Amino acid sequence: MTQKVVLITGCSSGIGLSLAARIAKDEKKRFMVYATMRNLSKGEALVKAAGRTLGRTLEIKQLDVCDEDSIRACVDSLPDRRVDILISNAGMGLIGPIECQSIGEMKTVMDTNFFGLVRLVKEILPDMKRRKRGHIVVISSVMGIQGILFNDIYAASKFAVEGFCESLAVQALRFQLNISLIEPGPVITEFERKVYEEGLKTDLSKADEVTADMFTNIYLKNYKQIFETLGQTADDIAEHTLKIITMDNPPFRHQTNTLYTPMTTLKYADPNGDLPIDTFYKMVFEHDKIFNASLNFLKLLRWRSRKSFTLEKDNNN
Ligand SMILES: NC(=O)c1ccc[n+]([C@@H]2O[C@H](COP(=O)([O-])OP(=O)(O)OC[C@H]3O[C@@H](n4cnc5c(N)ncnc54)[C@H](OP(=O)(O)O)[C@@H]3O)[C@@H](O)[C@H]2O)c1
Repeated sequence: MTQKVVLITGCSSGIGLSLAARIAKDEKKRFMVYATMRNLSKGEALVKAAGRTLGRTLEIKQLDVCDEDSIRACVDSLPDRRVDILISNAGMGLIGPIECQSIGEMKTVMDTNFFGLVRLVKEILPDMKRRKRGHIVVISSVMGIQGILFNDIYAASKFAVEGFCESLAVQALRFQLNISLIEPGPVITEFERKVYEEGLKTDLSKADEVTADMFTNIYLKNYKQIFETLGQTADDIAEHTLKIITMDNPPFRHQTNTLYTPMTTLKYADPNGDLPIDTFYKMVFEHDKIFNASLNFLKLLRWRSRKSFTLEKDNNN
């Protein structure tokens, strides 16, 4: 059996690191993983997680999704430039009132989360089309489906990712290629810590009092609890993604967190789009005590969510 070549971006920490190690450790050795990161000096954690797979089913390479030359050099260095499964994972967050963020900061988020994916696909898709073989897997977010308070730019970047993939998926079918969006809710990684710490440092002097208060005393105050209650681990996301890449007919969208599904379902329940916005508004501003009680209740239900991890369309297991 020939091994499938998997290229993953953003493997220095979090989901990318877990994914690379998990796929490389596949019991049936079905994959050769090229785990990439923009800064190779950050490779220590991955080397540790990869263990004996390093140099066997896992190799570490440099790739910066904001630099076309580095993407090309990385793909050129692979045997026959072959990538069977591209996992576009590299990304960054940004929270806060937009009046306190510079256009430069916003562009960096779009450049990484959206154009980073576009650059990868531009480099890899033509070869996949020629071979009529390939799977593009994108670590999107539930915020690619539904915007969340004070995540305006991050959600916009993930919406862009989803629109791009949805459009491309039709063309991909013509070449027997698959595209899958993995949509996690909160995941406890460096991302969560970095975003929170940056959020705490936000210069709120450009925001009015109501907005500054909302950000500090509602959003930041509940941030940690939301991650603690709903948060999955990077290993959870890696397990979900492994299932998706081993399916005969992988789905276009896959949400990893059953606790979050009721929120995203609101979006599809109302074509006018008011239902999710009104619900979030009421949850945050009118029923905050019920919201907090619900989070505590959800904490109790977490074990059930773990048990209910099934992928209906999975024909392989
Ligand atoms: N954590 C969550 O709650 C959550 C939820 C839903 C979706 N996601 C998505 O999951 C993906 C991974 O995030 P994570 O939670 O694992 O966060 P993380 O631990 O911060 O990992 C992000 C990775 O992306 C890399 N990266 C950033 N800019 C890059 C660039 N220009 N080129 C190459 N790599 C770059 C980082 O590298 P450096 O170490 O060099 O910065 C790091 O390896 C992101 O796309 C994120 O949007 C996260």
